[in-house]
Amino acid sequence: MRKTKAKTNASGIDAEMIREEAATEEFTAAAFEAAAEGENAPVDDTPKPHDVLIEVKNVTREFYRKDQKIVAVNDVSMEIKRGSFVILCGKSGSGKTTLINMIAAIDMPTSGEISFEGKNYAKLSDNGRDNLRRVNMGIVFQNTALMANMSAIENVEFALSIAGYHSEKRRKGSIKWLERMGIRERRNHMPAEMSGGEQARVAIGRALAHSPKLLLADEPTAELDSRTSFEVVKMFRELVDHENLTIVMTTHDVNIMGVADVIYTLEDGRVVDVRTNKELS
Ligand SMILES: Nc1ncnc2c1ncn2[C@@H]1O[C@H](COP(=O)(O)OP(=O)(O)OP(=O)(O)O)[C@@H](O)[C@H]1O
Ligand SMILES: [Mg+2]
Repeated sequence: MRKTKAKTNASGIDAEMIREEAATEEFTAAAFEAAAEGENAPVDDTPKPHDVLIEVKNVTREFYRKDQKIVAVNDVSMEIKRGSFVILCGKSGSGKTTLINMIAAIDMPTSGEISFEGKNYAKLSDNGRDNLRRVNMGIVFQNTALMANMSAIENVEFALSIAGYHSEKRRKGSIKWLERMGIRERRNHMPAEMSGGEQARVAIGRALAHSPKLLLADEPTAELDSRTSFEVVKMFRELVDHENLTIVMTTHDVNIMGVADVIYTLEDGRVVDVRTNKELS
């Protein structure tokens, strides 16, 4: 049992409840899938080692506008362990999205290094970085960034196709994730025909459908009501605990923070506080 305590407040989210419910979940999605496909192999439930998945070393990102220099991320270092749930918090403009974009290898640091499973992004080609991202990462952008001309299910299928899934697995996987996000009945809706929260859930399903090693989620619950936030964060915790997913997520919601293993606070691009909720061995 973890020691984290977070009191239920007006929004009704209780971090400890999320952790407890997640810990008692008996069947993971992978177990269901294996059973459905008649695979006899037992589900590997042995604890996975918390090796370092991502290393961020003295990373700085500067932007120039006319003659003004903006240091969006300033000398940030972090080791993100496999199978950990990491939250980045901090005021608007503190550098969270800039850092997430660099971990996603969408943007490159002005100085410093980032590596994923020991692969230094700077030493990979553009194609190498694209492939690394497509196969290993699921990304929920701050503005969801759904394809406006594709329905909910087509958005998820598209992500599966760029991750290299064959067509018959795409439809099955997309339905499964829309179902899991509670929006199966909206599958044929276009983004403009969905609420902000529904679009956010499509974006989360799309990011997770190809079973990435890393989920990068920039304010994924900002558009969700407190109950739906609770369900989504509980699912995140289950995926970390049972499927060894690693999550780096930004949020302003203090109720969610107790669910994470490590919380980094950014201020003016710098890490000013690191809190650990449990010992990662
Ligand atoms: N392309 C850019 N050109 C110039 N400045 C930028 C650029 N992108 C970000 N910035 C600046 O860098 C700083 C960090 O921005 P960032 O988007 O990372 O903040 P954030 O912590 O994600 O904020 P929020 O909570 O509002 O999403 C801000 O001051 C922003 O104005
Ligand atoms: Mg942001």
